Amino acid sequence: MKILILGDVYGRPGRNILQEQLSNIINQYNIDFTIVNGENASGGNGLTVKNAKELLSLPIDAITMGNHVWQQKELLDAIDDYPQIIRPLNYTDPCPGKGFQIFQHQHKKIGIINLSGQIFMPNLGCPFNLMKSLMNEIKNSADIIIIDFHAEATSEKIAFGYYMDGFATAVYGTHTHVQTADERILSKGTAYITDIGMTGPLDGVIGVDQEVIIESMLTKRPKRFVTAKGNVQINGIILEISESDNKVTDITRFYETYEVKS
Ligand code: FE2
Repeated sequence: MKILILGDVYGRPGRNILQEQLSNIINQYNIDFTIVNGENASGGNGLTVKNAKELLSLPIDAITMGNHVWQQKELLDAIDDYPQIIRPLNYTDPCPGKGFQIFQHQHKKIGIINLSGQIFMPNLGCPFNLMKSLMNEIKNSADIIIIDFHAEATSEKIAFGYYMDGFATAVYGTHTHVQTADERILSKGTAYITDIGMTGPLDGVIGVDQEVIIESMLTKRPKRFVTAKGNVQINGIILEISESDNKVTDITRFYETYEVKS
């Protein structure tokens, strides 16, 4: 089985390039199941219901989120109607939505977990201790367990990857919007990469117009964020998973840029 996982879809440029290219990518690489991170899909800030519907009208099976999950407040009321959308598991109960969701794909159960890191991130509770208490329960509920670890610090991400080694099928980082080149299969069989990157503007500052960010760096004053225009990128990974033992046999980075004519 081949799973395509795409990094943080940023604003309209990210949504548009998926409209244009996702089906081609899926056909070209014989993808069976597709996961995208959608927490920046609406103007860089969260996910509106309209944009969730738009993404789910594409061949996308699951949408993971992150620290911006509730930025579009309408999702608080709507998330339970969209089991394809998975918010960080470490929100304190009661909380709308789910942080762990099982998807039946052919004869396999694919469990997807979204977790938020705790270093330079909102204080949601410790992802390590949370998984410590849940691993046994989760273990036998799915054939394949994929974790989107939405976090800032590379150290926390790699430590979490090691902690999940042998338990998760794959652990991948999101949130920094910059793809790292450290994809590998860890010693107990878990596929790992620190960050899969971003799907959206190529020439912005992690999605935002570069002039806006440079100006705010120069003046030390906040500026209203504007989504960058121009060329775009699609970043992610492709996992190849063995039918017999559900382990990843190959993790490959996906990094493509596309020219947008203005
Ligand atoms: Fe984020």
